Amino acid sequence: MPTLTQSIREIVSNQSSAAAVLQRFDIDLCSRADEPLKQACAELQLSVDQVLEKLSDAAANEPGAEPTDLASYSMSRLIQHLVRTHHRYVRRELPRLTEIAHKVAGKHSKRSPELERIERLLDELRTEMFAHLEKEEQVLFPFIAEMDQDAVALSSPPRACFRSVAQPIRMMMLEDDAADRIIEELRSLAGQSEPPKWACGTYAALYGGMRGFEADFRQHVHLEDDILFPRAIEMESALNQRR
Ligand SMILES: [Fe+2]
Ligand SMILES: [Fe+2]
Repeated sequence: MPTLTQSIREIVSNQSSAAAVLQRFDIDLCSRADEPLKQACAELQLSVDQVLEKLSDAAANEPGAEPTDLASYSMSRLIQHLVRTHHRYVRRELPRLTEIAHKVAGKHSKRSPELERIERLLDELRTEMFAHLEKEEQVLFPFIAEMDQDAVALSSPPRACFRSVAQPIRMMMLEDDAADRIIEELRSLAGQSEPPKWACGTYAALYGGMRGFEADFRQHVHLEDDILFPRAIEMESALNQRR
């Protein structure tokens, strides 16, 4: 949790949702990067308690703390969780990160040339992942949910535009691997995900945001590749045996 004495830079690099909160209070991330939160609030005549409260609310709404009983979820419920939590996060966070990257690269790429590559990679990641989410939500997830909900009544797998659910699953897993490679490269470009000492608050917010994104991505892919997809393949083969 952020504290009164932490600098703006520290706060935004530790909490990916903090930058948006501070900006809503008109706290400039660049010019006030080194100021403790308390000082920035005093100078702007803001109630520091109110700012801290909003920061804590935003932290509590960040994805990360998954429900502990996911293993007991039905596939339909797991899909609902994936879409409402992880897909929603990707759709909100990637446009925000690409926008920040664009700003930071425009300002600091002379001194940190890797920022231009980071900007391009985030753009690419957004295009790839947005298309990926659509395919899951339009094709694969509805098929799995139908199979799951009607499992008792069905005498064979539902009709689909593929011969086996393993086909779109393989494609989705390959796409996850491609996104993973982009995220790995982003991490290596960002070193240990610590911005340079001279970095402004927006720069720090970019690195904090990328770290948060990676953590969410790992959990998202784990739920799909290790839990949902193997169960879907298993159920399809059980239904095929009923024929
Ligand atoms: Fe997904
Ligand atoms: Fe996926």
